[in-house]
Order: sequence, then structure tokens, then C-alpha cells
Amino acid sequence: MITTLTIVGARPQFIKAAPVSRALRCHAREILVHTGQHYDRGMSAIFFEELQLPEPDYNLCIGSGSHGKQTGEMLIAIEEVLLKERPDWVLVYGDTNSTLAGALAAVKLHIPIAHIEAGLRSFNRAMPEEHNRVLTDHAADLLFCPTPHAVDLLAQEGITHGVHLTGDVMLDAFLYNAELADRHSAILTELGLQPREYYLATLHRPANTDDPTQLQTLLSTLAKLALPVVLPLHPRTRYQIEQHNLLPESKIGNLKLVEPVGYLDMLMLERYAQLILTDSGGVQKEAYMAGVPCITLREETEWIETVESGWNVLVGAAPEHIQAAAHDFARPKDHPALYGDGHAAERITEILVHSGPWKA
Ligand code: UD1
Ligand code: UDP
Repeated sequence: MITTLTIVGARPQFIKAAPVSRALRCHAREILVHTGQHYDRGMSAIFFEELQLPEPDYNLCIGSGSHGKQTGEMLIAIEEVLLKERPDWVLVYGDTNSTLAGALAAVKLHIPIAHIEAGLRSFNRAMPEEHNRVLTDHAADLLFCPTPHAVDLLAQEGITHGVHLTGDVMLDAFLYNAELADRHSAILTELGLQPREYYLATLHRPANTDDPTQLQTLLSTLAKLALPVVLPLHPRTRYQIEQHNLLPESKIGNLKLVEPVGYLDMLMLERYAQLILTDSGGVQKEAYMAGVPCITLREETEWIETVESGWNVLVGAAPEHIQAAAHDFARPKDHPALYGDGHAAERITEILVHSGPWKA
């Protein structure tokens, strides 16, 4: 039986790891490492509970910091764990600093790396995630791609060995939990919302939040839209609002600021929204999965197929573009299966288990 050491640290990674961990543990030993990149209960523990993720075997408690400090501290701590555990595989997810630290620690110790959500590119090198993705893909031995487009992008960089089209594990999580959310979440009642009579928004990209003028413009624009806008506040965004005292003005109008919500509540808010406005990667995809139109508050996206299918529009942060998109969105008729069949985790498990320990 192979031993896989899985590294997670940020909110979307807990969600992606849940279906994979469930499938993997039927056929392999998994050691779960939480870097501690996200640590608030609403950004971490709630997902372990709701998604029945096993308790981490190691919590490295690294916490927040500058990119170098955070990634460097993770690198040191992950290396210690790898030297002790000597797994057959290191499994990393997505594009955060936890992903890069895990990949760097493993590659230097000649431990093979499997990267879930490989081949994503925004082609925007100002995004910290873009470096994390490129470097991780180039260090990885197995690259699990959610879409054919991701496979093509890897090929353009000369990466063809170990590449597998598996579908997206976020669809696995979405399908597994949608009905549970219907049964267990009371968020619509709690917030006094009627289905299709509100918009859902999320905002956390540094490009949108770290400049207070830009953040204020975005909040004010959201506040003036035609329907109530629920905005679960990422701690990065809350910090900026408090730091620059943006709250009073942005509270005007239709904006409902709430704490970050758990995954089941988030699925409810997404699936019953009239429209979603976001700069999140995962939320763009979930909007598509839910069949809800999405307005992306960025100039580019890694999830280009959502735009090509007509369900997502890229508007950046200009108020007039956001208002026009919210007003004029035409729902497409077609809704092709862009992200697989909801069994990506099983496929990934099978490939990992059959690969055994990596032979270069
Ligand atoms: C990180 C990822 C980003 C991902 C996002 C998911 C990197 C470079 N960025 O961004 O790709 O989309 O997670 O949500 O890895 N904070 C808290 N409590 C927490 C966590 C963070 O208060 O539990 C605050 C801290 O002030 C921290 C700030 O949020 O400095 C940013 O956190 P950090 O993990 O560095 O980046 P994210 O913006 O969350
Ligand atoms: N999410 C959540 N509660 C929230 C906001 C987001 O459960 O308040 C979930 C969302 O459904 C998706 C994931 O977190 O599955 C997206 O994470 P995030 O937007 O933080 O990061 P990104 O996907 O942009 O890396």
C-alpha cells in the first residue's frame, strides 16, 4: 500500500481535499499536513467538520506573513515532516503558498509530487498564484488536470509526461454536498433572503483589496446594484475595510456584509443566487456548476471555458462595466459538462495507486 502525504493550508484546499481523501483512504495510507496558512475557525476548522476531513496528522501552525516568510517557514517545517515520514507521494492542490512550499520541499528530497488542479494559467504574473502554479507544475511528476484546456497549456510548456485529464475535484465536492446543503443549511432564512432575489459576491484578490480606493469603489458599486448583495468577507478584505475605515460608506444600500460562511451555507447561497460576482477562482466554477451566471471582477481568468460558454463575463473593477453586466446578463441556453463527471477523485486515486512509488 502506498503512503501519500497530502499538504493543505488554505480554504479551497480543504474543499478539494475532501473527496480525494475519501477516495484515497480506501486504497492507500494518507498522512494529512495542514500548514496553518488559514487558521480562523471560519476559514479552516469548519471545513474539516462539515466535509468530514480527518484531523490533520500535523498542523504546522505557520499562519500569516509576507510571501517569503510564510513560504519559507512552511518549507522548513514540511521538510522535517517529509524526512520523518518518507512518503511515496506528496500531494498538493492548486496554487497557494502552501502548494509551492510542499512542492519545493518534496522535489529537493526526490520525493515524487502529484499536483491536483495542474495546468491552470492566468498569464498574469502579477498574481502570486501564477508563480506558485508554474513552479509546482514544473516540479510535479503526476499532473492531474481538471480540463482539456489545462492539458493543452501544459503541453505548450513542454509538459506531457505524467499528465492526466481527470475532471475537477471541486465538482465531486459540489455534487456530494449540494443535497446535504439543502437539508442542513438555514442560511437563506437566517439572512432573510428569497431564492433568486439576491446576488452573492466574494472579494479577496490582492489586486482588488489591497488598494483602498479600488476596494471602496468595488464595495460602493456592489451596494448600488438592483438586488441585495450578500458578501461573506474574506479576512484579508475585512482587514482592509477596517484598516481604512471603508465600512460606513460601503454599508449604504443593498450590501449585506457577513462573516465567511461554511461550505454548506456557501453552496446554498451560490445555488439560489440570481447572479454571482466574484474574484475567486473556485466560486467562478461553482457558479457554473450551479447554473448561475457569474460576473468576474478581474481582467482575466484561469477558468476560460466558463467565459467561452457564455456563463461568465470578465469585467474587471470598473463600476459601469459591473453595473452593465449585472443588468444585461443573458443566460445561455447550453450548459455543457466542462468539469467532468464528479468522479475525478476516484480517477486520481486509481492513477496514484497504480503508479506505486514513482520511477523516473
Ligand atoms: C490565499 C491564497 C490564494 C487563495 C486564498 C483562498 C496565496 C499566495 N494566496 O490568499 O491563492 O485564493 O488563500 O482564500 O497563497 N487571515 C486571517 N485569518 C485566516 C487567514 C488569513 O485573518 O485564517 C488574514 C491575514 O491578515 C492574512 C490575510 O488574511 O495576512 C491573507 O491571508 P493569506 O493566506 O496570506 O492570503 P489569502 O488572501 O487568504
Ligand atoms: N467558500 C466558502 N465560504 C465562503 C467563501 C468561499 O465555503 O465564505 C468556498 C467556495 O464555495 C469555494 C472556495 O471556498 O469552494 C473558494 O475559495 P476562495 O474563494 O477562498 O479561494 P480561490 O478559489 O479563489 O482560490
